[in-house]
Amino acid sequence: MIKKKILQAYEEMAERYNELIEHKPHNAYYDRPNTLSLIPEVRGKAILDAACGPGKYAEILISQGATLTGFDLSPKMIRLAQERNGDSGRFFVHDLSTPFKTLDDESFDIVLCALALHYVEDWTQTIKEFRRVLKPKGHLVISIEHPFFEYNYFKSKKYFEIEHVKCTWKGFGKPIEVNSYRRPLHECLLPLTENGFYIDSLLEPKPTKEFENYDPKHYKELNAFPAFMCIRGVRKLRTLETIFK
Ligand SMILES: C[S@@+](CC[C@H](N)C(=O)[O-])C[C@H]1O[C@@H](n2cnc3c(N)ncnc32)[C@H](O)[C@@H]1O
Repeated sequence: MIKKKILQAYEEMAERYNELIEHKPHNAYYDRPNTLSLIPEVRGKAILDAACGPGKYAEILISQGATLTGFDLSPKMIRLAQERNGDSGRFFVHDLSTPFKTLDDESFDIVLCALALHYVEDWTQTIKEFRRVLKPKGHLVISIEHPFFEYNYFKSKKYFEIEHVKCTWKGFGKPIEVNSYRRPLHECLLPLTENGFYIDSLLEPKPTKEFENYDPKHYKELNAFPAFMCIRGVRKLRTLETIFK
């Protein structure tokens, strides 16, 4: 039911999201530069962009020489990603919280998942799938809403729980209700470390200077308190599960 609402929201805003993605400050001058800074050299590398949206990250990574596969829950987002990238990438509709059956074991050097994991209640299966499709020592780079920001924003009284939350986005045409899950800090880190990753970098990002030209109010706020968090994990060679199998 919640997933259906998330899908409906993104289907409804896909066109507008795509039109704005180039310069929308939180994406263009906050999330993307910081998340991209965690991605190692991509030339000649196979990258999975999980929840790729309209394929802006894909466009950047392809232009830098990566071979790109992307998926997203929203068929409209996938059509837009295909239109943006032509034959340069392979894109298909898929749900992040179900097994990536069409993707082979150890077939990617890098998995990217930007601003999407807060739509998944239980990360365990998703992170296990990220690990399965990554080559040994491959990199997982994710960006998520910062757990402390969400705790304040949603006026939570239950820090330690994973909570279903919703808010209304007004920046994409008519107001759209967006459902997601907020979680405490340990629920952002332990799913990685317990399912086959070392965490080797963590960013509490600051906006780039260009952000200020588009949105001075949020520029000031984001320099005082983070809204997003970017994490890089490295695939462990073996997990406890495989050692004792
Ligand atoms: C905020 S957008 C980010 C898009 C893209 N990663 C970017 O940063 O430009 C979130 C995306 O996650 C997708 N999404 C939400 N839930 C998903 C799920 N369960 N599986 C796959 N994609 C999902 C939405 O359709 C949307 O395209």
